Amino acid sequence: MTERPVPASELYTDEFAADPYPSYARLRADRPVCPVSSPRFDSYLISRFDDARTALTDPRLSKDLYGPGQHYLRIFGPNSEGLNKNMLNSDPPEHTRLRRIVSQAFAPRRIEALRPRVAEIVDTLLDRIVPRGGCDLMRDFAIPLPMLVISDLLGIPESDHERVLDWTQVIRTSGSANRSPEKDRAAVQEAQLRLHQYLTDLVQDKRAHPADDLIGALVDACDRDGELSEQELVTTTFLLLFAGHQTTADFIGNATVALLTHPDQLELLLASPELLPSAIEELLRFDGPLPVASPRIATEDIEYQGVCIPRGSVVGVAINSANRDPEHFADPDRLDVRRERAPHIGFGYGVHYCLGVSLARMEAQIGLGTLLRRLPGLRLGVPVAELRRLPAASPFRGLLELPVRF
Ligand code: HEM
Repeated sequence: MTERPVPASELYTDEFAADPYPSYARLRADRPVCPVSSPRFDSYLISRFDDARTALTDPRLSKDLYGPGQHYLRIFGPNSEGLNKNMLNSDPPEHTRLRRIVSQAFAPRRIEALRPRVAEIVDTLLDRIVPRGGCDLMRDFAIPLPMLVISDLLGIPESDHERVLDWTQVIRTSGSANRSPEKDRAAVQEAQLRLHQYLTDLVQDKRAHPADDLIGALVDACDRDGELSEQELVTTTFLLLFAGHQTTADFIGNATVALLTHPDQLELLLASPELLPSAIEELLRFDGPLPVASPRIATEDIEYQGVCIPRGSVVGVAINSANRDPEHFADPDRLDVRRERAPHIGFGYGVHYCLGVSLARMEAQIGLGTLLRRLPGLRLGVPVAELRRLPAASPFRGLLELPVRF
């Protein structure tokens, strides 16, 4: 059956940016697999939980964007190999090789050893905020926290943090700045170019001055063991840097808004801090930072829910919709920090399951836990309807600013 595409003007509206969940509910009920037009690229959206999990492990859906077909051109545009030809955009066995090289560094035991450092970063950021009585929580806390942690791990010098953050924020907020689509594209390309040059130089610097950090270990894997090419060294560093702070920052922002707009749940959490780990999972299910998994490509004509997805189509798995599927979660639109454990797909599923899951959980637990403890009386600085958000069609769900008072 061929389906009529949902035009971008119907789905990616301002209402969707503010609250996409009613639209996801309609899609799950009426068009669980459907073609969708977007200002970025057209794709087939899969919105039910069971289909989403199946799709994330379906070998007919490839992540190899840089292989035959050159699908990256539609998704990232030309000259994107320097940053994006990494494990997330590859299939086994390439993916297995690239992931194995860094997976040790993200093993739960290694990450646990970072706990004191993460707590120290959280406290330093909050020491600056507490006396002020109000702040932009994205700029002053949610974004710098994971950025500082991943920079420590990778070995990005402190003196470079500001410009690296400037470039990654141009990429993250693409489409939201007050400029024409052409100027926006040019700004993103410029930021990517500068980031690529910066990371290439940083890698050379680590080669000249060996360092006991993750980029140092990657340089070793390249030079001594020949496991990584020069390009893969840079693309892997970029992926870890970007994935390592962007999603966590948006998650902390979304989770804070969810708690502040559900005071009964916030009260429960404040009264029983031992609920924090399960609350983090529920907050991720409720309003995650990666609404749609990164693009997959149909390598043959495939059928989901009686709909033919033609070979060569881009397929998006709508994680945030699947995580609200009533077939899988009781009363899915209710935030319930005491919800019985119900596996969500906020960290993905299958071989591309989030590599940084232990780090993300730890940052969220220490970050949110300390924030709530040290800022009693935390409240939104503007009505929720006035929060400035990333555009509806952004690959990320998050806030441009989060004004709060305390
Ligand atoms: C992959 C979510 C934090 C590194 C993924 C995927 C999801 C995800 C859904 C799978 C994407 C797909 O299949 O298309 C999140 C969320 C986070 C978070 C919600 C925070 C709350 C982190 C952190 C790191 C990280 C802190 C640290 C470096 C990665 C990497 C991949 C990945 C490297 C690619 C894995 C692969 O291709 O095998 N993440 N992530 N993430 N994540 Fe995370």
